[in-house]
Amino acid sequence: SRKTTIAPSVLSADFSRLGEEVADVCQAGADWIHLDVMDGHFVPNITFGPPVIKSIRNRTDKIFDCHLMIEPADPFLGAFAEAGCDIITVHSEASTHLDRSLQAIRDLGCKAGVSLNPSTPESVIAYVLDRLDLILLMTVNPGFGGQAFIPSVVEKVRRVKAMIGSRPIHIEIDGGVTPETAPLVARAGADVLVAGSAVFKGGREAYAGNISALRSGA
Ligand code: DX5
Ligand code: ZN
Repeated sequence: SRKTTIAPSVLSADFSRLGEEVADVCQAGADWIHLDVMDGHFVPNITFGPPVIKSIRNRTDKIFDCHLMIEPADPFLGAFAEAGCDIITVHSEASTHLDRSLQAIRDLGCKAGVSLNPSTPESVIAYVLDRLDLILLMTVNPGFGGQAFIPSVVEKVRRVKAMIGSRPIHIEIDGGVTPETAPLVARAGADVLVAGSAVFKGGREAYAGNISALRSGA
């Protein structure tokens, strides 16, 4: 069966020990590290930016998967690439010129992603499919960890899977992913699962079990 990529969100980590948390979760079986960047403008919360990402870059060789919840994003893309992000994802709702933003990300040598809020129809990506390496479908309204999975997005996963056809584009799910909800989106076509609270609950001794529970569910 298909391998599901597990991308723990450090939003649920202990920020006072962020470097150790990244190392621990990678040791516990994480495939990618998901970095939730929030600006207090596009979303009602503020997290961290390029200097913090740069400070943890040397803790692992795993892919740094950067989810930008900032508006505008274009002026900061270079700084996130420079900080060591491998994938940079912008929100369609925060992108006046989405095609330009995606081109800019690839020009920086990174993989390009677009994220859609739960209420945003998949039609917004119809004309940028050839510029995309990843589509991030939000299963919560972005801003906070620990929210409940919004089940109506499962149908959107199916539709996006059909839209991308044979293109090598990841479908990533973010928000409320647990061992119970993971199989719903994996069966619909998602291949990358972000999880914050479901990975970081219980402290470092629990991380490996938490990750394998997500993987076996998916
Ligand atoms: C929400 C973030 C998510 C969040 C997921 O705005 O994009 O990555 O941290 O947290 P859980 O897995 O707890 O829903
Ligand atoms: Zn995220």
